[in-house]
Amino acid sequence: IYVREGCYVCHSQMVRPLRDEVERYGHYSLAAESMYDHPFQWGSKRTGPDLARVGGKYSAEWQVDHLKDPRALVPESVMPPYAFLADKKLNFDRIAERLRTERMLGVPYTDEMIENAEGHLYAQADPDEKGYDHLDSLLEQYDGASGREGSVEFRDYDGDPGRVTEMDAIVAYLQMTGTLVDFSTYEADDLSNRR
Ligand code: HEC
Repeated sequence: IYVREGCYVCHSQMVRPLRDEVERYGHYSLAAESMYDHPFQWGSKRTGPDLARVGGKYSAEWQVDHLKDPRALVPESVMPPYAFLADKKLNFDRIAERLRTERMLGVPYTDEMIENAEGHLYAQADPDEKGYDHLDSLLEQYDGASGREGSVEFRDYDGDPGRVTEMDAIVAYLQMTGTLVDFSTYEADDLSNRR
């Protein structure tokens, strides 16, 4: 959805190792953080701010409101509104095939992850109803991947729990960008060794 809607036309996802960028956005991006992105979202086109570390910067409610009507929250914004995403049911008929394709491109999804893809999606987006039975399996397979327990978020975002929409998906995505490396314990061993 991020690619389809052309968010990258205005937003990069790459904090460059420059002082002003690090002060504004946080730790500069590591190659490992985007090595599984297809297509990657590097770049320097910044009509809007870099989004590499936007995960958790705002509440999910802020993200939904902002996507629906950017100027309601940031009056000078030139970002277009994406309210229609909340009315579009998310199409995930082929979610397992999508993961399998990503695996062909090098993403280390296991057979189990591919088999459970739809259940895990429901567990993330509709944890109280359709996804309830898949929650344990979701957490077992994905939680703690960044070294932190509780790193997998599961909840409704668009205010309509029974319905998984494209708004749910894009906000889930925005809220996890930049959260896969725990920078409170990260040490740049590789970089300092080379000096
Ligand atoms: C025409 C350019 C443009 C497009 C296309 C665009 N944005 Fe933006 N975006 C902006 C601008 C400018 C801002 C800064 C003002 C604001 O917050 O609205 C912004 C801000 C944001 C922010 C807040 C970032 C922060 O750190 O404050 C998020 C999140 C965001 N956009 C997500 C998206 C997503 C997701 C899409 C695609 C669905 C998208 N944008 C498409 C221009 C754009």
